Amino acid sequence: MRKILVTSALPYANGSIHLGHLVEYLQTDMWVRNQKMLGNECIYVCADDAHGTPIMLKARELNISPETLIKKSKSEHTNDFSDFHIEFDNYHTTHSEENRELSELIFKRLSEKDNIEKKSIEQFFDVEQEMFLPDRYLKGTCPKCKSENQYGDSCESCGATYLSTDLINPISVISDSKPIRKKSDHLFFKLGDYENFLKGWLDGNRVQKEIKNKMDEWLSDGLENWDISRDKPYFGFNIPNEKDKFFYVWLDAPVGYIASFKNFCERNSRDYKEFWDKDSETELYHFIGKDIAYFHVLFWPSMLEGANFRTPTAVFCHGFLTVDGEKMSKSRGTFFNARTYLNHLNPEYLRYYFASRLTHNIEDIDLSLDDFVARVNSDLIGKIINIGSRCARFINKDFDDFLSPKIKNQDLLDVILNSKEIIVQNYEERNFSKNIRIISSLADDINKYLDDEKPWVKIKDEVNREYVHQVCSDGMNMFRVLIGFLKPVTPKIAEKVENILDCEKINWKNIDNILISRKINKYEPIIGRIDKESVEAMKKEAKGNK
Ligand code: 2FM
Ligand code: ZN
Repeated sequence: MRKILVTSALPYANGSIHLGHLVEYLQTDMWVRNQKMLGNECIYVCADDAHGTPIMLKARELNISPETLIKKSKSEHTNDFSDFHIEFDNYHTTHSEENRELSELIFKRLSEKDNIEKKSIEQFFDVEQEMFLPDRYLKGTCPKCKSENQYGDSCESCGATYLSTDLINPISVISDSKPIRKKSDHLFFKLGDYENFLKGWLDGNRVQKEIKNKMDEWLSDGLENWDISRDKPYFGFNIPNEKDKFFYVWLDAPVGYIASFKNFCERNSRDYKEFWDKDSETELYHFIGKDIAYFHVLFWPSMLEGANFRTPTAVFCHGFLTVDGEKMSKSRGTFFNARTYLNHLNPEYLRYYFASRLTHNIEDIDLSLDDFVARVNSDLIGKIINIGSRCARFINKDFDDFLSPKIKNQDLLDVILNSKEIIVQNYEERNFSKNIRIISSLADDINKYLDDEKPWVKIKDEVNREYVHQVCSDGMNMFRVLIGFLKPVTPKIAEKVENILDCEKINWKNIDNILISRKINKYEPIIGRIDKESVEAMKKEAKGNK
């Protein structure tokens, strides 16, 4: 049995979960479910990312404490996730005692190794607000193309990136005042000390090739020291032995992976070191978006290495979500919050659709709304679910709920069961879309078998009774296997089918067991078609969302 720890990126505690986020959580959840079906120990943890300037400012704006804000967010997030059937083994927050202790421990160990350096830097300071201004709280004229109203780190008009101190006529976005330049001491993690380590780590096949190429580029450009401290006011953890200095949110955020797992262990009387010790033989995977690769493939492994923890087995990146081929947009009514979706549509539709688009690479995936409706209605409902409803009614009505004692078309059943291995492997390799194609084509084969046998015609003649009984029992067995193949993707559908069949919870071991001479329950509708009006209503609500 493999022992595997899996994480998804920690969502910030100042915003709602939207469909873009869900690409990642659904992908991870499906991957984890496949592992659990294999009988591996696979623990999936996550947490809210609760620190940083945006969260501090958002709380101010709402006139509440940051603690109140992050509590509210956490409960909103966990409701959204659970309504999408994303099953975390633990969901924590980075604003926790476990995380404080672990962040301090890692910082201490890095300091002892002389990996931390103090340097005075000059930044913009908002005198009215008495705070240093992060780049995105500054606006001014682009030093390159002279466009006005550009952020402190890059220009949206010409694409240039620059130092905020190069911005012309900078203005504080928070108070609209003119900031002054001010010096303060900052702590830096000397990433360059880990260049050799990172090169070796990379050789272990730990990232996709696009990310590997990017890393090679970063490594050959030379690694810069990383500023891990922030001045007050800041919502975060105080840096030990420093006055009014805090850990930068990106220092303690990934440590939140360990902290959430440690919290899980405390609740389950286990030792977190089993998974985090340097010589741990367990596996560790991080699922993230490609935009935060830098943090996860450079800083994070180096911090772990330096602090004498194990490093990730692999980091899996995915692309962004587009809707109808474009970035999600509030004005077009295509910026969908998780809750907005749930107000109108069944979560399993999206799980199925995302699976049909997801591969192991980092390309963006598109939610084309027409295609979404078409695929769910014609493939999931029209082909796959239809097999169950076609066959179950005969078993229920004509055969007293009993499945036949014999299988008729063993060949077709074998063809289906023989796909198991490749299906499991595709899940493991995150090639979800391949599986959806295989399952859909197997559904075609089964439907063809039923079309050819025509039980609805044959049942009219008493001499065919046994024959029809076998064909429909075949259908139910084949249906069960297909639903098992889809179980990581659509777990609630699988649950309903298990109830109808009154069978054991399907897993990769028992999936080959054939149901014969057994009573099943009355068929109940499993999932209905999407009607277009629901999609329109969701768009309308999205347009109205703030
Ligand atoms: O980009 C983000 O949304 C971050 N909150 C992700 C943090 S992941 C990890 F490092 F904690
Ligand atoms: Zn510019």
